[in-house]
Amino acid sequence: MARRKKIALVGAGNIGSELAALAAAQELGDVWLFDIPEKLGVAQGKALDLEQQSAVLGFDVQVRGTADWDDLAGADVVIVTAGLPRKPGMSRDDLLSVNLKIIRSVAESLRPRCPGAFVIVISNPLDAMVHAMKEVTGFAPERVVGMAGILDSARLQLFLARAAGVSVKDVRAMVLGGHGDTMVPVPSYATVNGVPVQQLLAADVIAAIAQRTRNGGAEVLKLMGTSAYYAPAAAAIMMARAYLRDEKRLVPCAAYLRGEYGYQDMYLGVPAIIGAGGVEKIVEIALDASERRMLDESAKAVRELIAASSLGKAAGNPAGKPAAKPAE
Ligand SMILES: NC(=O)c1ccc[n+]([C@@H]2O[C@H](COP(=O)([O-])OP(=O)(O)OC[C@H]3O[C@@H](n4cnc5c(N)ncnc54)[C@H](O)[C@@H]3O)[C@@H](O)[C@H]2O)c1
Repeated sequence: MARRKKIALVGAGNIGSELAALAAAQELGDVWLFDIPEKLGVAQGKALDLEQQSAVLGFDVQVRGTADWDDLAGADVVIVTAGLPRKPGMSRDDLLSVNLKIIRSVAESLRPRCPGAFVIVISNPLDAMVHAMKEVTGFAPERVVGMAGILDSARLQLFLARAAGVSVKDVRAMVLGGHGDTMVPVPSYATVNGVPVQQLLAADVIAAIAQRTRNGGAEVLKLMGTSAYYAPAAAAIMMARAYLRDEKRLVPCAAYLRGEYGYQDMYLGVPAIIGAGGVEKIVEIALDASERRMLDESAKAVRELIAASSLGKAAGNPAGKPAAKPAE
């Protein structure tokens, strides 16, 4: 009989616990909720609480808390939220130095234990953290991916649905680029069940929604004093499920580019198909001149972030342009 899949969640904080709840309720597999030794009790307590919930909701998976890396061995999916979240007034990039150390050590621990896993990174600043995860683990880029695009797109979809007075279920829209202030909402591809949003909403309304989307994380942060966790967790679970069930979902995510969109050896939010092979295909869509300019700006910001984190290699050289120099 096939064994149940194993889901390892590194970080048992706000997003980690919501990930565990969703993974368990959807019976994606047995869940290990990992945190640092000082938080072992929290991880174990949340796991026990969630497992007790299974008796009410009726799901047949185990949920365990741990601070022992060996418990994660052989995981099919690893989702990483380890690190600090933003506090009000901080940008995602302000987290770079502290979270980079954490992600590097997490990657070192995962490398020998989870060589076959699909790794989804959530920790911020996302594009630099997922790059570090790939560099340190040495895992194939198809199996190391960053979650941001589904979340940013969800924000765009919600705001469009509210403005158009339609169900959010019918709105499809994408946000590409880095997960920072330079992210690129792409309203030219936004539709309400196939109807271009431009036929339903005025240009200035769409522009204001795009701007609110860019600020979507900060808006939640300002209200509750820490970063969002329900929507980010749901977005990462969508990616995990697409991999585990070979769903071939076409979603925006931080994928490793080797020439696609004109960028080399860097992570950037682009549409990609996720299935049993991980990131099976990066889909190159036509962008209008202003979207293309914004994507270039966003890629530049990501490259600078990667250079600042000394992640090395001429990360993300667009054809013909020199890589940004590492910060002193
Ligand atoms: N990619 C996105 O779209 C997105 C969205 C929201 C938040 N985030 C980021 O996700 C991260 C987690 O957010 P959160 O709200 O869950 O934070 P949180 O503080 O609630 O949880 C983070 C957890 O990581 C743990 N941790 C720290 N070092 C660790 C290590 N070495 N190994 C294992 N665990 C470790 C902490 O003890 C803590 O429990 C933050 O960096 C946040 O900025 C990303």
